[in-house]
Amino acid sequence: MTKHIAILGSTGSIGKNSLKVIAALGEEYRVTAISAHSSTDLLAQQALDYQPAYISITDDANYTSLKEKLGDYSGKILSGPQSLIDIATLDEIDIVITAVVGAAGLPAVLEAAKKGKTLAIANKEPLVIAGEMLTRIARENDAAILPVDSEHSAIFQCLQAGKTSEVNNIILTASGGPFREFSPDQLEDVTLAQALDHPTWDMGPKITIDSATMMNKSLEIIEAVWLFDTPVEKINVLVHPESIVHSMVEFNDGSVIAQMGTPDMTLPIQYALTYPKRLRGITNRLKLDELGTLNFQKPNLETFRSLKLGFEVAKKGGSLPVVFNAANEQAVEEFLAGKIKFAMITRIIEHCLEKHDTTECETLDELFEVDVWARRQVIEFIEQKTSANI
Ligand SMILES: NC(=O)c1ccc[n+]([C@@H]2O[C@H](COP(=O)([O-])OP(=O)(O)OC[C@H]3O[C@@H](n4cnc5c(N)ncnc54)[C@H](OP(=O)(O)O)[C@@H]3O)[C@@H](O)[C@H]2O)c1
Repeated sequence: MTKHIAILGSTGSIGKNSLKVIAALGEEYRVTAISAHSSTDLLAQQALDYQPAYISITDDANYTSLKEKLGDYSGKILSGPQSLIDIATLDEIDIVITAVVGAAGLPAVLEAAKKGKTLAIANKEPLVIAGEMLTRIARENDAAILPVDSEHSAIFQCLQAGKTSEVNNIILTASGGPFREFSPDQLEDVTLAQALDHPTWDMGPKITIDSATMMNKSLEIIEAVWLFDTPVEKINVLVHPESIVHSMVEFNDGSVIAQMGTPDMTLPIQYALTYPKRLRGITNRLKLDELGTLNFQKPNLETFRSLKLGFEVAKKGGSLPVVFNAANEQAVEEFLAGKIKFAMITRIIEHCLEKHDTTECETLDELFEVDVWARRQVIEFIEQKTSANI
């Protein structure tokens, strides 16, 4: 039977790879809905190439310009933030690939979970800020959550070698990003171009900056806590510059199971779509003889303070992960806009966490109140520093 797929964020790095994977899988998998926020040229091209029944443009302001570019596209065009929820919850959709960047993806993924859709989750921020809510709703509605993040796909694959109760440790690998060997002082002068130049992965701008600060690994620690129902004490991070071992699981008997592959997102995307089957895919094949050596080292927590914060935030929980994520999203946006220096990102996150009185977020409204509060703190902090010329 054909599987109908909605890709939330089809114009991004994960979205484009998902389209390639689905096209190569053949007739059993079909792109039925796609979305973008502002990339109207690319969304129109994708609509014409793949002819999905629905397209969504989440920024209303881009609706007219999108419509002009759609030529003889005959499907339905939806717009505004609600349209992301609408395509994720369509009756005919079986699998929702969540490839939007940031907390903006949360309402749609929650509604898709309520409808019992299979969730192929790349968009990690919703799991970070609403992990309890999302996993509970998915459980209550028989919505499978399948990880797309390469590390979590690796852990998911390794876990099939034993029982959850037999796990001793989860070992999340990290490339270390472009500043792996840097001292804290050296981080003060890095440029935007250097931060965007990831040594092994080709990804969207936000996650590329998160990899350079190692904030990405912190978000992944919290993501792993919820995905695998694991206490943070059982999660370790190991720097592995070649990005070949995507993560590992150590079982009670001392056996360590690793999942390997080239740094190519088409493999974890495909596994989330075809699980439990393994079909022939388009991923580049791994040639270990050509690679020769694989290296592993402990992360430098002095240079990458955000990683230390990640473990603390995961342990304390409550509203802290919401502040952690929102402060980071806002700070990265300011860095990408050239308004702050790279090293300020972690300082700003620390400032927001210190200022916050932890609460519990029971509802989506409460959660977004904390999110908005944290983003405002970031803006005020930057304004104060700018006026003081620091
Ligand atoms: N890239 C990777 O290899 C990778 C690996 C693991 C996990 N992830 C996770 O996957 C997610 C996507 O990453 P990415 O690298 O693919 O990001 P990306 O290239 O920046 O793409 C983001 C997508 O989200 C859309 N979008 C942006 N803001 C939106 C909003 N406010 N509302 C709705 N849609 C919005 C974008 O549309 P426009 O094009 O119109 O802006 C685009 O389609 C992130 O959570 C990331 O952490 C990515």
